[in-house]
Amino acid sequence: MKNILIIGSNGQIGTDLLTKLREKYSHKQVLASDIRPPQKTDSNFVYLDATDATAVRQIVKDHQIDEVYLMAAILSANAEKMPMKSWDINMQVLFNVLELGKEGLIKKIFWPSSIAVFGPHTPRVQTPQYTIMDPNTVYGISKLAGERWIEYYKNHYQVDVRSVRYPGIISWKTLPGGGTTDYAVEIFHEALKKGHYTSFLAENTRLPMMYMPDAIEATINIMEAEPQRLHIDSAYNIAGISFTPKELAHAIQVYLPDFKIDYKPDFRQAIAESWPESIDDTMAFKDWHWQHQYDLDEMVKDMLEHLSEQYHKNLNLVS
Ligand code: SER
Repeated sequence: MKNILIIGSNGQIGTDLLTKLREKYSHKQVLASDIRPPQKTDSNFVYLDATDATAVRQIVKDHQIDEVYLMAAILSANAEKMPMKSWDINMQVLFNVLELGKEGLIKKIFWPSSIAVFGPHTPRVQTPQYTIMDPNTVYGISKLAGERWIEYYKNHYQVDVRSVRYPGIISWKTLPGGGTTDYAVEIFHEALKKGHYTSFLAENTRLPMMYMPDAIEATINIMEAEPQRLHIDSAYNIAGISFTPKELAHAIQVYLPDFKIDYKPDFRQAIAESWPESIDDTMAFKDWHWQHQYDLDEMVKDMLEHLSEQYHKNLNLVS
C-alpha cells in the first residue's frame, strides 16, 4: 500500500490526474493538495503552499507519503509577466520535493518538463530528444534548469525522479492558466458559448499538443515503468498531435459549421514561434512503449461532447 501526494491537484493536469490515480489506487491513498481550495468538498485534501519547505515536509511525514506528483508551476505566458517571482516559485517547489527525496523521505517523484525547454535554434520539426536547447522564456529556462537538477539529484543522491516534456495539453474539466497553448482549450469554450473565437496565435502557428487522457497515461506509465528500462535521467520527449489554430478551427467546424475564427496575435506569438512544431518521441516509445491514442478529430469530438453538455447545447457529433 503506497501513499501518493499530488501537489497542484486543482490545476489543469492535477484535476484529471487525481481522478485517475484515485480510480487506480483508492481515495484514501491519494492525497490532494493545492494552494486553492477544491471545487467539491474532498475529505482527502490539504491546503499546501509548495514553496514552503517546512509545510511540504510536514505533510509528507504526517501522511507517510511515498510518491509525489509535483504539478504546481507558473506557466509560460504568466511567467513573462513576473519573471523573478515565477523563477523563484518554479525552482523552489522543485527543490523542496527533491530534498525530501534526497533524505529518503519519499521514494519516487514525478515532475513535468515541457516543450518550452526548446528555443529558437532548436530544430523545429520532429525535434529530437537531444538537441540545441536555448529557451528564451522564464518558464522554459526554469524547466531546462529543472531537468538538469533532476538528473543531478538522480546521479548524485539516487533520487528516483521521472519526467516528460509535456506539449500543450487540451482538456475539458479544468482550464489551463497562463500558458501559450491555452488557445487550444479556450477555442472550444468560445465556439460553444459565442460561435466565435479570436485567437492570440496566428493562423499558421503549428505547435505540439496532446489530449488530456494521453497526458495522464504518459504520466502514470512513466511512473510505473521498471527503473532499469529508463535510459534518460532528465525528461522524455512525448508527442501527441501537432496542428495550427486554423486546422483546429476547421476540425471544430466539422461539428459547428457556423463557428468563426479570427486572429489577433499578441506577445504569446513570439513564445510560440520559439517552440517546436512537432516532437520526436522515439526514445519514450523504445523505453516504456509510449504511444499517444487521440488524433485531432477524436480529440475535437470528445471535447465537444463533454463541453456541449456543460453548456447545455445539443450537438450532432456524427460527422
Ligand atoms: N502549455 C505550456 C504553456 O503554454 C507549455 O508547457 O506554458
